[in-house]
Amino acid sequence: MTPGAQTGKRSGSGATATKLVIDTFRRNRLIPVIVIDDVQHAVPLARALEEAGLPCAEITFRTPRALEALEKISTECPNVLVGAGTVLTPKQAGDARAAGAKFVVAPGFGAAMVDYCVEHDIPVFPGVATPTELEFALSRGLTVMKFFPAESLGGIAYLKSMSAPYGGVEFLPSGGIGLTNMATYLANPRIVAVGGSWMAPADWISDAQFDRIRGEVRKSVKAARAVKQEGK
Ligand code: 3PG
Repeated sequence: MTPGAQTGKRSGSGATATKLVIDTFRRNRLIPVIVIDDVQHAVPLARALEEAGLPCAEITFRTPRALEALEKISTECPNVLVGAGTVLTPKQAGDARAAGAKFVVAPGFGAAMVDYCVEHDIPVFPGVATPTELEFALSRGLTVMKFFPAESLGGIAYLKSMSAPYGGVEFLPSGGIGLTNMATYLANPRIVAVGGSWMAPADWISDAQFDRIRGEVRKSVKAARAVKQEGK
């Protein structure tokens, strides 16, 4: 299986869209995980991320206004790769796509949601924590998946042994990752990118601390670029 191809059960346009998203993740190496309550903050936040060199955002469906925030970013910030996180149901996935989400992420493997995305050519990255869940994702032709909650599960050491039998599978770890430990993941060639809320925590967004977010993102982008991948 070609790493990152995600071609398995997808039709042509789904595979292409997924490849574009994965290529962007691979280039950026970081995915800001966003919890946003106030739609007014959506565009300033997205612009802050873009200005700081990280034009990407996973807007989590954990707040009532998340869908609106996603839609605003999608409409007003065309250079930002915006996706939906914490997507649990087919309806949420459909709503996310309609609002302009370019990708869908979930904490776990919800079969109905994942199957809906695959059928509708929506790039989807379900969370896996065990070989069984990893195999569910593989059975849908997915070769890049979220690894969550990364640190609580045992970090890169657990991920290495859990995924050892499955060549060609790559990961987007998140959960407990920040500036101080992201290199442990990014150094591993099976890591496409790491996700996390540390670059734009919910309280910084609600307090409109966009300069602070810009600063943290710049620092993180620089640190991520400095990590050398093992074997390269
Ligand atoms: C996620 O959905 O990926 C996580 O909630 C991010 O975890 P963090 O807040 O520990 O970065």
